[in-house]
Amino acid sequence: MKGLILSGGKGTRLRPITYTSAKQLVPVANKPVLFRVIEEICNAGIDDIGIIVGGDTAPEIQAMVGDGSRWGVKITFIHQAQPLGLAHAVKTAQGFLGEERFVMFLGDNVIQGGIHELVRQFADSAWNAQIVLKEVENPQSFGVAELSDGRIVRLVEKPREPKSNLALVGIYMFDANIFEAVDHIAPSWRGELEITDAIQYLVEKNYKVYPYVHKGWWIDTGKMEDMLAANSLVLDELAPRVEGYVDRDSQLSGKVIIEPGAEIINSVIRGPAIIGEHCRIVNSYVGPFTSIYHHTVVDSSEIEHSIVLENCRIVAIPDRIEDSLIGRSVEITRSPIKPKAYKLVLGDHSKVGIL
Ligand code: G1P
Repeated sequence: MKGLILSGGKGTRLRPITYTSAKQLVPVANKPVLFRVIEEICNAGIDDIGIIVGGDTAPEIQAMVGDGSRWGVKITFIHQAQPLGLAHAVKTAQGFLGEERFVMFLGDNVIQGGIHELVRQFADSAWNAQIVLKEVENPQSFGVAELSDGRIVRLVEKPREPKSNLALVGIYMFDANIFEAVDHIAPSWRGELEITDAIQYLVEKNYKVYPYVHKGWWIDTGKMEDMLAANSLVLDELAPRVEGYVDRDSQLSGKVIIEPGAEIINSVIRGPAIIGEHCRIVNSYVGPFTSIYHHTVVDSSEIEHSIVLENCRIVAIPDRIEDSLIGRSVEITRSPIKPKAYKLVLGDHSKVGIL
């Protein structure tokens, strides 16, 4: 069985972060979302993985992921010239997939563990496809499945009037019959070849397509709020560990991870939280559901329920920072020179909330 990860896409809803970086590389609990997906596939015993890349983000993704040796697997990059839909991506990968059964994961989805068992079962089954579903509150934003007696009756992509609250999670298992389906569907209203339509074709042609309703949490990290939600959920599941230095005047409470080389000086860290390698947290408070990535300095400031990327400096901020996603090498400091004023250098689509 092979793995296929879709990691193209522009990530427009995560601007400005995605002007300079792929959305799949934003770290959740200090590990890029894409790496979590790769690990989930490895855990299912799959060691041959293709990653669909496209557009501007391809070189960065290739550089960060490498050849897969870090996970003991082989990784092949497959270029999709244009983002013409998930089914189009499958077709683009046909040369890589050949006749093998495969699991397809969307590279920006974060799911509570346990899916690898399901993938393993599919590998040894005679089913043609298996889809993962999850009850959601806003089914009109997803592909939606209608079930009857545990069997799939119909699948519709982003229906205006959903017939159920079961969304298609971005994890699919197929055999080679999916290529026939992809060849028989037409682009949707958004001009994309939808995987949902291809699976509907399999259902209509009486192929064996089985649903699995996932009970744990699942987040499609398209927007900033989703990133923060995924970060909170993942942080809450990690086991605490201290591999850096914590001085006597500091206090850690709850699930806190301090990564190697980090220094916590006269500060309070209230978990779940993670402080990355070689960070310095000085005279500060880091509150629950916060991830601080490598080489960042937080000095004389307070931050909570946020993700901070690498090499940032947050110094002497008088009020607490909350619900924030802060990109790489960002400086948030007090204006050192008169006149006393907000002095901002912000990229396009940045958002600042001033007290
Ligand atoms: C895609 C699929 C949709 C699925 C969703 C899961 O939507 O088309 O069926 O429910 O991923 O994340 P998109 O992210 O392209 O809007």
